[in-house]
Amino acid sequence: MEPVKIGLLGLGTVGGGTVSVLTRNASEIARRAGREIKITHAAAKDYNPDLIQGLDQIDLISDDAFKVVADPNVDIVIELIGGYSPAKELVLKAIENGKHVVTANKALIALHGNEIFAAAEAKGVTVAYEAGIAGGIPIIKAVREGLAANQIEWIAGIINGTGNYILTEMRDKGRDFEDVLKEAQELGYAEADPTFDVEGIDAAHKLTILGSIAFGMPLQFDKTFTEGIGKVEQQDVLYAGELGYRIKHLGITRKTESGIEQRVHPTLIPERRLIANVDGVMNAVLVKCDAVGPTLYYGAGAGAEPTASAVIADVVDIVRSLTTAPENRVPHLGFQANALVDLNILPMEETETAYYLRMQAVDQPGVLADVTQILGDSGISIEAILQKEPAEDASYVPVIFLTQRIKEKNMNDAIAKIEKLDGINGEIMRIRMETLG
Ligand code: HSE
Repeated sequence: MEPVKIGLLGLGTVGGGTVSVLTRNASEIARRAGREIKITHAAAKDYNPDLIQGLDQIDLISDDAFKVVADPNVDIVIELIGGYSPAKELVLKAIENGKHVVTANKALIALHGNEIFAAAEAKGVTVAYEAGIAGGIPIIKAVREGLAANQIEWIAGIINGTGNYILTEMRDKGRDFEDVLKEAQELGYAEADPTFDVEGIDAAHKLTILGSIAFGMPLQFDKTFTEGIGKVEQQDVLYAGELGYRIKHLGITRKTESGIEQRVHPTLIPERRLIANVDGVMNAVLVKCDAVGPTLYYGAGAGAEPTASAVIADVVDIVRSLTTAPENRVPHLGFQANALVDLNILPMEETETAYYLRMQAVDQPGVLADVTQILGDSGISIEAILQKEPAEDASYVPVIFLTQRIKEKNMNDAIAKIEKLDGINGEIMRIRMETLG
């Protein structure tokens, strides 16, 4: 049988890894797919040939990606250039030309996936995107296929390797934020615009996709709440540790009676949880279902070959389904397109979680009583209090509260009132907290 012909867009970190792995494991991959898989046409503006094994196996390499998607010999286009444009135009053009598409571009899918999937369904082709979410972990396959019997209750994931690497190095080695970020960029983990990692936008792209495949709803990135790790201080990492918690940048989506929570923010989680011990660039996704209970998926969330692993798995899946009628393939969002429901995504004020609060209190009688009075009046129950001795020459003493679950709106009101107290200095540091039990 003829090899399946691949058009590859991009020869950067992931593109290079894809060529290397496809070359190194060619015969094993062909044994699985049932056909040989060959990259016949690639396009890249800039690449380092010394880092890519098997470049000489590609028939044609140019700098014109539009020629690749127009090439009549290409069966499957792999898009690894990232960003919105021209990635979107290229993907839509490939679909229009009847080609299947594999992409690692979570930003593109989170923002334009509804349009892209509709175009693909109209044309009877597949757009696969496993590599976009949690790097090499096959989480899309697990949720769309392996858990298809279940009602999914919630998903909580460490889904940005760069952010997790920064938080881990800050905790373990007391390293400086900027210094660790620079290293993550050099290692090829960070996004082209690293604020996407640090501000949680990359995690929000991935969470938007996970929410849609968990609950069967169209993609709604604009409704995903996003808070970055930039405000987390070394002292918070230390106090959380003293209280038995770790701070992780989590993406959480949960089905509640009033709607879907979809939020990315730094989160305290009990250190005894497996996911609290996921360190460095590793990712982990915890999925809570009604039938199977909790399942945890762990692995490398970024990097050349881990991401290539997911890209190639998607190619193999497509090759295996080439002779399957389009309506019998796995639907793009795991639910049949006509069965998607426009579920209500809750505004952050309506979501419910527990909290870590750190404040600077004047060291005098009655201040803590005022704070606890406000919390009590707002219906907020206190779980733990940690008060530190003031430093020798300091006028304020740090006080940390852990609270029970409460609506974000109640907490916002309480924080506003506490910050107005004479006995409290400056802004309160608030980090959300989840037991993940
Ligand atoms: N910048 C991303 C991360 C790459 O650090 O997780 C993988 O999506």
